[in-house]
Amino acid sequence: MSSTRIGLDISTSSVRAVQLSVKDNAYRLDRFGQMPLPLGAVQEGEVMDPQAVGTAIRHLWKQSKFRSKKVSIGIASQRVVVRLIEIPYVEPDERRKSLPLMVGDQIPMDLSETVLDFVPLEQGINAEGNATTKGLLVGAAEGVVMKSIEAAEAGGLTVTDVDLTPFALVRALVRADHLGMRQEAEAVVDIGAATTSMVIHVNGVPQFVRILMMGGQDVTERLITDLGVNLPTAESIKRETVLDGGDTMVATIDSPVMIISDVVQQLVDEIRGSLDYYLATGPIDHIDSIVLTGGGSLVPGLQERLEIATGLPVRRGTPLSALGPGDSGLTPDHLSFADPLASAAVGLAIWDDQ
Ligand SMILES: Nc1ncnc2c1ncn2[C@@H]1O[C@H](COP(=O)(O)OP(=O)(O)OP(=O)(O)O)[C@@H](O)[C@H]1O
Ligand SMILES: [Mg+2]
Repeated sequence: MSSTRIGLDISTSSVRAVQLSVKDNAYRLDRFGQMPLPLGAVQEGEVMDPQAVGTAIRHLWKQSKFRSKKVSIGIASQRVVVRLIEIPYVEPDERRKSLPLMVGDQIPMDLSETVLDFVPLEQGINAEGNATTKGLLVGAAEGVVMKSIEAAEAGGLTVTDVDLTPFALVRALVRADHLGMRQEAEAVVDIGAATTSMVIHVNGVPQFVRILMMGGQDVTERLITDLGVNLPTAESIKRETVLDGGDTMVATIDSPVMIISDVVQQLVDEIRGSLDYYLATGPIDHIDSIVLTGGGSLVPGLQERLEIATGLPVRRGTPLSALGPGDSGLTPDHLSFADPLASAAVGLAIWDDQ
């Protein structure tokens, strides 16, 4: 039986893929590679130009020599809705069939153009004494899913699974960082170029998902507009400017420090707002820690700001380093460079039926 699987993350800045195999009940890293995408090929988490993405995928497969053309892909866009709902208990097969009827009015989308999924969390009994299942209802606009599949096929690949990117993040980071089962609630925050995926999990089981349309690109764009610099200059200013943890009194209003500080603070406030919303409305009344990934999270000072804003310990997710180099040929330096970028692809390559 083949025990190799490839996760393909079609992101705003790049296409990335991870090939994993299972040996002695542990995942091993076989390959990791990425290829940059032209600006605009993917916007707000949605594929706009499948042919351009397909071309990048073909280059990536040639460069990184993946062993198969079958991939799992992820979806994270504004046209994805995730809600905690309670439905009457039915067998999983029956549930799949009757889901549209059971949940039709609970999702603000046209069901004829929506792909539905349900992630069961717990069984219960309602006030009338009937068995129920509580879980996460996922609705994704069919167009978003189809465009991603079209891009993968344009790259010569076959898509075998489509998952929600935030669920993949949990698989990548929870397995990698704490193999023992823990009961704490942890928030996973992946800050990309244009999107920020947030998911709160307990024991690796997702409880809440939110996808924000914000990321590292917002910082770059503000630098371009406010300083009148070009894209490469804005990128290097962003990477090199050091924020000082809040004391920006000495900086002038239009200095890089102030601009970056302002956008970072907006991002951090949005993240904190989403956590507060969950705590106010969800079944859990506290979050213990945050794990942070994504290239956008590397903006200097962001991690510290997030710690201050939430009062929570924030650690960095290291999905590749935790796997070790395997046969990938990557050095420890490569691994730590790619670690913040690889969570989604790693999670898409992890499967439960190993
Ligand atoms: N060292 C760094 N310092 C600051 N920002 C960085 C650094 N490295 C990458 N970035 C920023 O990270 C962003 C890209 O992150 P990432 O690759 O995780 O996004 P993506 O997965 O392509 O996008 P998305 O998840 O939104 O679709 C860009 O905005 C880039 O400028
Ligand atoms: Mg991403």
